[in-house]
Amino acid sequence: MARPAIVVALPPIEADPVSAELLDAGFEVITVEQPAEMVAALATRRDVAVAVLDGEADEDLAGEYWAALVNAGRPVPALTVVSPGSYQRLAEMDDDGSGNEYFTRPYSADSIRWRLEAMCIRRDTVDDGSGPVLQAGPQDHDAWNRRAAVIVVFNPKGGVGKTTVAVNLASALQARKGKSVLLIDADTVTGHVTTSFALEAVRSVADSWRDEAEGGPSETFTAIASEHGSGLRVVALTDSPLNTEVLDPRRVAAAISAARRSFDVIVVDLHPSYSTLNQAIFDEADRILVPVTPDVPAIRAAVQMRDVAGALGCRERLAMVVNRANSGVSVADVERTVGMSAFAQIRSGGMFFVRAANEGRTVIEMFPREKITADFDTLADHVLGVPAKPDLARSGFRLPTRARAAARA
Ligand SMILES: Nc1ncnc2c1ncn2[C@@H]1O[C@H](COP(=O)(O)OP(=O)(O)OP(=O)(O)O)[C@@H](O)[C@H]1O
Ligand SMILES: [Mg+2]
Repeated sequence: MARPAIVVALPPIEADPVSAELLDAGFEVITVEQPAEMVAALATRRDVAVAVLDGEADEDLAGEYWAALVNAGRPVPALTVVSPGSYQRLAEMDDDGSGNEYFTRPYSADSIRWRLEAMCIRRDTVDDGSGPVLQAGPQDHDAWNRRAAVIVVFNPKGGVGKTTVAVNLASALQARKGKSVLLIDADTVTGHVTTSFALEAVRSVADSWRDEAEGGPSETFTAIASEHGSGLRVVALTDSPLNTEVLDPRRVAAAISAARRSFDVIVVDLHPSYSTLNQAIFDEADRILVPVTPDVPAIRAAVQMRDVAGALGCRERLAMVVNRANSGVSVADVERTVGMSAFAQIRSGGMFFVRAANEGRTVIEMFPREKITADFDTLADHVLGVPAKPDLARSGFRLPTRARAAARA
């Protein structure tokens, strides 16, 4: 299927490598050197998916480009390339759900290509036989404005509860908080979320992308995902550690970014390694939950993670979850040693996890009244940014006298 067109209105020194990269990726590229050319392109081509603009162009010129987009008679989002200094100001002004995005200089042609891939996936396209055309008719503004938070669960140490936290957090968000949730099993080595949910023979992302390379349709994560009985949607990157070469890390990150439009929350479970795939996913994360069990090896791994995250630029997005919090070293000691405060605590769930796993269900669904589920409820609230219920006793709150008497009675 022909790919959509992208209008590139960048200075020639950037337009040339960017256009070459986009052409290589199969896009149609229309380079324009003045606003009138963009007006003409938008008037004659129905398949323009995105316009790439220069955010540092002089104000009059930038204004004319914007006017061309606004007057196109249909929504055509812009990817505006800016200096880091301009980014904060512009991105805040424009955070209106219009689909416009920003990209900071310096950048590589390859990295802007993947951002554009993500923006294109987010556009609804139809093919009426004459090539891809942007979906006509009224926009689904609710879906358009939706932007799922991406919650990644990671610790470089194995067996600390990453998958347990990812699965049960996703389930709590879906079943108890009424959110629409996509759970991504991005553990390409030992991932087993779909099989443990008894979702047999489901297609993985690697299956889909291999089919696509052989002429099959291009599918989003939303399309590939299967529905678990709880309503949760689940997608695995691969079902075999030997079938991962098709999983280009930047394409995976772009596809996660594109899926933000279809869900309230995306939870991603990772393999314990600092692979390029994991690093690309860290870049996409709004929050990286680090489960830590209260024992020395897990604490050491968390300290290392904190330092590595500093080098990778995602330190401030880390949030420590103390798992099996009621065993071993005290939470206060874990906090002191790791140098992070606990974002949430999960107690040891013992046989509840085993029994849920045997049924292909989550602890949240099977044991809604147990304390372990309450722990995941609290974690889900923190993830959603819901303030904790005030501790009435500690805040000095007292029931009015009559209510106290009634409570005593
Ligand atoms: N809070 C808990 N209470 C009881 N058992 C737990 C708890 N958290 C994790 N487990 C158990 O510990 C084992 C390892 O957990 P899990 O698979 O979630 O770890 P992981 O970090 O994802 O491991 P890997 O690095 O191999 O992917 C599982 O058997 C799980 O059921
Ligand atoms: Mg795991």
